[in-house]
Amino acid sequence: MTLMRSSLLLALVACATPEPVAPPEPAPAAKVSTAAKLFGNGIAAAVVTDAEKPLLDLGRALYYDPRLSLDDRYGVDGEPTSPGVGGQRGGRNSPSSLNAFAHIAQFWDGRAADVEAQAKGPVLNPIEMAMPNAAAVEQKLRAIPGYVELFAKAFPGERRAITYDNIAKAIGAFERKLSTPSRFDRYLGGAADALTADEVKGMETFVATGCTACHNGPLLGGDKYMKLGMVEPYETNDLGRYEVTKKDGDKYFFKVPSLRNVAKTGPYFHDGTVPTLEDAVTKMAKHQLGKTLSDEERTAIVTFLGALTGEVDAAYTAKPTLP
Ligand code: HEC
Repeated sequence: MTLMRSSLLLALVACATPEPVAPPEPAPAAKVSTAAKLFGNGIAAAVVTDAEKPLLDLGRALYYDPRLSLDDRYGVDGEPTSPGVGGQRGGRNSPSSLNAFAHIAQFWDGRAADVEAQAKGPVLNPIEMAMPNAAAVEQKLRAIPGYVELFAKAFPGERRAITYDNIAKAIGAFERKLSTPSRFDRYLGGAADALTADEVKGMETFVATGCTACHNGPLLGGDKYMKLGMVEPYETNDLGRYEVTKKDGDKYFFKVPSLRNVAKTGPYFHDGTVPTLEDAVTKMAKHQLGKTLSDEERTAIVTFLGALTGEVDAAYTAKPTLP
C-alpha cells in the first residue's frame, strides 16, 4: 500500500514537473575563453630578421643535407621506426621537428635537452648516420667550399667557424623557427568561427574525456613526462624515460607528445606500432584513462585533432640547393 501510494505520488510529481530543459549552451566567446585557460592564447608564426638570415640559411642547408640527415614531411619520416645507414633500424618512431624547439626536452625519453643537443645526436648515432666522431663531421664539411662560405657568413669573425657546436647551433636556430600556427590558434586568439561546429564539439569531447590531464598547454603536450599505461598496462619492452634517468619511478614514462600536426605524423606512439589516428585515440582512452569511447566520441576527437594541422611556411622550409 505504502509502495503503491509513493509510486502514485512519483507519477504525479513527474506529470507536474515541466519538460526538463537542457542547460543553455555557453556562448561561442565563452567557449573560446574556457579553451584558452587550458591551451593558452595560441602559437604565432616565426619572424625572421635580416640579421638572422645567414645563420638560418646555413641551418636549413645542414638540416636538409642527406650527408648529415634530418628531414621534412611535417618533420617526421612517416616510418614506424627510423631507417638508418645500411637499412638498419633504431627502436623508436622519429618525432617531428615541427614545434619541437618548444618541448621540455627532445626525443621520446627526453635524452637531449634541446634542439641543438638533438641535432648532435643523429649525426653521431651509429645507426642513423654512422659518423665516427665530431671531427669527422667537421672535416667532411670543411672539404665542401659552399659550406666554408655559409659558415663564414653565419659566424663572422670566428677563425674556425666549422665546428660541431656551430653545426648544432645552426640546425637548432633553423628548427627554432619551425612553429606551425593553425586554425586552432586563431580560435584561441578569439576568432570563435575559426573552428567548425564539429571541431568545437570534438574539442569539448577531448576535454570531457580527460585527455587534457596530459595533453594541455599551447602544444597540447610536449611539456612533461607521463606513464604510458597509466590505467591499463601497455605492452612494450621500451622503458622510456628510465633509460635516461635509471630511476625505477620513470619506467614506462615517455614525453607526452605534442598533438600539433598529429593528423600528419603517423604512425603513432614511441614504437610506431599504431597505424591510424583513430587507433591512437582509442588506445589512449583505454590505456591512459580506462575508458571505452563510442564511435561518435572517437570521431569527434579525431575531427578536433585535424584542426591542429598548421601551416608550414613553404618559403622558409623549401629545400635549398645544397653546397
Ligand atoms: C596520463 C597522460 C595521458 C592522457 C590522459 C592521455 N595521453 Fe595521449 N599520450 C600520452 C603519452 C605519454 C603518449 C606517448 C605514448 C608513447 O610514447 O608511446 C601519448 C600519445 C598520444 C598520441 C600519439 C601521438 C604520437 O605522435 O604518436 C595521441 C594521438 C594521443 N596521445 C591522444 C590522446 C587522446 C585523444 C587522449 C584522450 C582520450 C589522450 N591522449 C590522453 C599521455 C596521455
